Amino acid sequence: MIGKPLAGGFRLIEVDETTSTNDLARGYAEAGEPAGLVIRAGRQTAGRGRQGRSWLSPEGNLYTSLLLRPRRPMTEVSSLSLVVGLVLCETIGDMLGGRAWPAVKWPNDVLVDGAKVAGILLEGSPDRRGGCEWVVAGVGVNIGWAPGASVGYATTCLATLGLAEMTPAAFLAIFLERLQPHFHLWDRQGFAALRATWLGQAAGIDRQVVVKVGSATVSGTLVGVDETGALQVATSTGRIERFAAGEMALS
Ligand code: BTN
Repeated sequence: MIGKPLAGGFRLIEVDETTSTNDLARGYAEAGEPAGLVIRAGRQTAGRGRQGRSWLSPEGNLYTSLLLRPRRPMTEVSSLSLVVGLVLCETIGDMLGGRAWPAVKWPNDVLVDGAKVAGILLEGSPDRRGGCEWVVAGVGVNIGWAPGASVGYATTCLATLGLAEMTPAAFLAIFLERLQPHFHLWDRQGFAALRATWLGQAAGIDRQVVVKVGSATVSGTLVGVDETGALQVATSTGRIERFAAGEMALS
């Protein structure tokens, strides 16, 4: 086992620079490293976001990846993204102390006043019995710096929100401590055990949304998420459509 022991049973490796912390964590996962390894980089030269997008990664923000080996079936593992988002949302909410209210946006964003402050990228591999061999939860949090409008959506960072003293390392330690009980609850009982809490922090409920799955788009009113973490949208026909994956935009 490698890494410096941390609270919550995690072990930490810190590097100044890497291509992507998800790449490093994947390498350790494939080499058989036990669950609980956390990699943090000061900057990334090829940070990745979802849908093949790049994730700008200069010094000053948090770039971290967690190697986990959940007991959940592989079909349920995407809901881990919602759990990680919920914990990020609660962590940031506590730090802001009521000055602003973060929200989780399905499937992997944390927003403050509609601007993205954090994102999650899950990558994993199944075992031969439909279980999960390993999953890497990559987490990017805008701490000291936010990308401008060039990324195509509104962004913010903790410094802009009044938390100029926060560092990536300090944020990570607080986040991991909070993540541990949520992860164990999810690992034993699945997303259903956290669904009500997630919905309580969700952005866009009852608002018009557009969901994109591949080249198809569906518009409707956001109802919520079901017990598996799939998005529920009421379309104009009155039907509730369910989306296990995709991208959602609030309109
Ligand atoms: C997204 O919102 O599209 C997901 C962003 C995930 C970014 C993090 S930064 C640490 C880890 N390494 C990566 O290359 N990506 C994730």
